[in-house]
Amino acid sequence: MTKQETYIAVLREIQIRVEKEGNLYAYLDNVTAVLKKRLSHFNWVGFYMVKKERLILGPFQGTPACIFLEPGKGVCGTCAADQHTILVNDVSTFPGHIACDPCTKSEIVVPCFNRDHQLKAVLDVDSDQPDAFDTTDQKYLEQIAHHIRSLWDYEKQ
Ligand code: SME
Repeated sequence: MTKQETYIAVLREIQIRVEKEGNLYAYLDNVTAVLKKRLSHFNWVGFYMVKKERLILGPFQGTPACIFLEPGKGVCGTCAADQHTILVNDVSTFPGHIACDPCTKSEIVVPCFNRDHQLKAVLDVDSDQPDAFDTTDQKYLEQIAHHIRSLWDYEKQ
């Protein structure tokens, strides 16, 4: 399977689950599980949730991670502040990179908006290989973020 075919299968699996489940955290748990299971270059994948001007660790798969991140700092914080995807081929060159796991060599972070275009989370994916992510990852991770935008309706439930 090519990477593109894998992402198409992931999107299909996520679509099936979004129609059946109405709980935000349970659903996001499954999104991270599906991504981690299917994409072998993902070493860590998770959501950082936007709460009161800072980012708090949400559903994830991988080793334990930093719980709080400040907007504007590190890759996730910069993504949250700028509200666009950041692809980092070599984390050692990114100013202020926060190394929750010293094995991380490259990463991609995608903003997640609700249906009113408010930033609700960032989707952070790390790899223990340099240059692990490309524009195919960006394209499909952004599609996933778009696909799950209605889930934030369930935030209060
Ligand atoms: N790498 C992130 C911090 C989060 S951990 O990698 C899970 C950053 O610099 O924002």
